[in-house]
Amino acid sequence: MEFIRLINVLKQYDKGAVTALNNINLSIDRGSFVSIIGPSGSGKSTLLNMLGALDSPDSGHVIINGIDLASQKDLSDFRRHEIGFVFQLHNLLPNLTVQENVEIPLMDAKMSEKDKHRRALLFIEAVGLLDKKNQKPNKLSGGERQRVAIARSLVNFPSIILADEPTGALDTKTGAKVLDVLRFVHQTINATLIIVTHDHDVARLADRTIEIRDGQVINDYYNR
Ligand SMILES: Nc1ncnc2c1ncn2[C@@H]1O[C@H](COP(=O)(O)OP(=O)(O)O)[C@@H](O)[C@H]1O
Ligand SMILES: [Mg+2]
Repeated sequence: MEFIRLINVLKQYDKGAVTALNNINLSIDRGSFVSIIGPSGSGKSTLLNMLGALDSPDSGHVIINGIDLASQKDLSDFRRHEIGFVFQLHNLLPNLTVQENVEIPLMDAKMSEKDKHRRALLFIEAVGLLDKKNQKPNKLSGGERQRVAIARSLVNFPSIILADEPTGALDTKTGAKVLDVLRFVHQTINATLIIVTHDHDVARLADRTIEIRDGQVINDYYNR
């Protein structure tokens, strides 16, 4: 079932000198796992930002679950409830513990404190950091911080998980662990998982790979 649809999405920078997305048309099924691949500067991050309502197109439409994002008054509200972002550069709050960081997205959720703790711990366990739940981020390795960021981005059960180069800064082993967690959560809560990568081995894990170059889709295929 179609869940996300982009219609003629155009995004330019520098007063039109740079076309980051050149009339993209795309539809993505609910619950699917899609990888986006392409060279540096091809528009991958811009595309992900559109899908996550972090940015809006100059023209065209981004429609998620039948709702045109341009018609939404409060996009930050939409983001908070629907989207889980996993960035390569994760900004954990340094003065909060692992568990407190993971609970941030639940701040205004209609849940008891006890349920918030329980939910956070579920994800901290899933990323293998239960023994570090009371640590501050500066006591963690890069891979561990990445996993905290993943737990935080998934703790409110987003319907869409967007990951921009989630393994880019990690060694092979830690990268594999991070991917395992993303796939586990994708399957467990049936979220739509979209990963930007330039690693073909990572791209192949997805059901479908979309290749972009110069802001256009040049290839779109199923991996199995
Ligand atoms: N905020 C910005 N201001 C100006 N140009 C930008 C901005 N963000 C991206 N671009 C340009 O848009 C193009 C696509 O960038 P990006 O989406 O980051 O590519 P990728 O993630 O594939 O490396 C590049 O030419 C980049 O320089
Ligand atoms: Mg990028």
